[in-house]
Amino acid sequence: VIAHRGASGSRPENTLAAFRRAVEVGAHMVELDVQCTRDGAVVVLHDDTLDRTTDGMGPVHHQTLAELAELDAGRWFDAAYAGERIPTLDAVLHAVPIPINVELKAGADDGLERRTLASVIDAGALQRVVFSSFQADRLARLRALSPTAELAVLWDHTAMAGALQLAEGVGARALHIRTSRSAPQGIASGHAAGLAVRVWTVNAQADLAPLLAAGVDAVFTDYPERFLLDA
Ligand code: G3P
Ligand code: MG
Repeated sequence: VIAHRGASGSRPENTLAAFRRAVEVGAHMVELDVQCTRDGAVVVLHDDTLDRTTDGMGPVHHQTLAELAELDAGRWFDAAYAGERIPTLDAVLHAVPIPINVELKAGADDGLERRTLASVIDAGALQRVVFSSFQADRLARLRALSPTAELAVLWDHTAMAGALQLAEGVGARALHIRTSRSAPQGIASGHAAGLAVRVWTVNAQADLAPLLAAGVDAVFTDYPERFLLDA
């Protein structure tokens, strides 16, 4: 059970509150999204703009880390979480002791791979991080920087041939595919190629059975507690 953006159904996504809640309910892994600030810091935020999940505005990469540190990333979700900040990747790596899936968000060749990898290595976390991206060039650059980093191909199409080819090309060990009626075929294709297959985003308990029947290796969910705690 992978907590998608942390326990994002019950806490503001991609905040320390969401990651701590995921650990508390027993999630096996947390997923988070990273991107670079204007001054090259690696921060944890999903959208490429600040508007939806903070009290700031505009593109994340236009702001410095010091500017982002002023923003509130919790109040939009619920007043109870006012004061939550946009965390740096470094802060999450130090606060969260369990495996982490670091998703590198789309963008230009901005050094995100190098900076992310450095942060993970400095935190001594390389053995418990899976790096993923929708962007083939990000995966290729990561692989060029590290022969041992564990990579996963994020795939948003029903045709799997391209995903398998990319996984082989960058030496990925897993596919992360979107949940859909064709997910069981995607799981079978990935397994036939020797890859683990993890499916996002599964929030209803009823949707788990067909994926388990197909042998899914993990699911990403906004509600890890639904799959881990006794109701
Ligand atoms: O990494 C799985 C999932 O997070 C990919 O989509 O948009 O939620 O980052 P998104
Ligand atoms: Mg993501």
